[in-house]
Amino acid sequence: MPDDNDPSSPTPPFAGRTIALVGLMGAGKSTVGRRLAEKLGREFYDSDTEIEKAAGLSISDIFALHGEADFRRGEKQVLKRLLDLPPHVLATGGGAFIDAETREVMKEKAVTVWLNADLETLWRRVQKRDNRPLLKRADAKAHLSNLVTEREPFYSQADLNVQSKDGPHTNTVNAILKALQTWTPT
Ligand code: S3P
Repeated sequence: MPDDNDPSSPTPPFAGRTIALVGLMGAGKSTVGRRLAEKLGREFYDSDTEIEKAAGLSISDIFALHGEADFRRGEKQVLKRLLDLPPHVLATGGGAFIDAETREVMKEKAVTVWLNADLETLWRRVQKRDNRPLLKRADAKAHLSNLVTEREPFYSQADLNVQSKDGPHTNTVNAILKALQTWTPT
């Protein structure tokens, strides 16, 4: 397995870059990202967690008290800050890569990986937790389906596209590592 900390391994082209995971809620960005970081011996950051720390509020409370537009402003600032840190693994909130400016900075400073999963998989996973304000509505599954359709044209602009399947997380981590071997700077 590649190890960008192991001096005996040839340095892969992604070594100097942050690996940023993008994709919808339920794609597994945080769970898989944390394990990928462990495997590469890198720091792991989760943009939602960093936004919560900066605001001193949960994502749900930020949406409820300040609204989505305010959340998006905070998200943009936090991502810019994180992308200036030394290379790490970054799990981004599902809406981050939809913003044109954020997408541009991410494409410039990171290797972007779309963690892709089908609607049924996403829906099954998001139902396990009640922490997503965009899905606190009666027609949550239909809304998630709309988000899949609306956002895929943006996620597909990521450098790499990796399927996030059910089963051991190591399978997805290994699929990302394999895809990363194919990445070269443009
Ligand atoms: C959002 C996804 C969430 C969080 C916020 C908005 C979105 O992150 O940033 O609730 O717009 O898709 P996850 O993708 O980590 O659930």
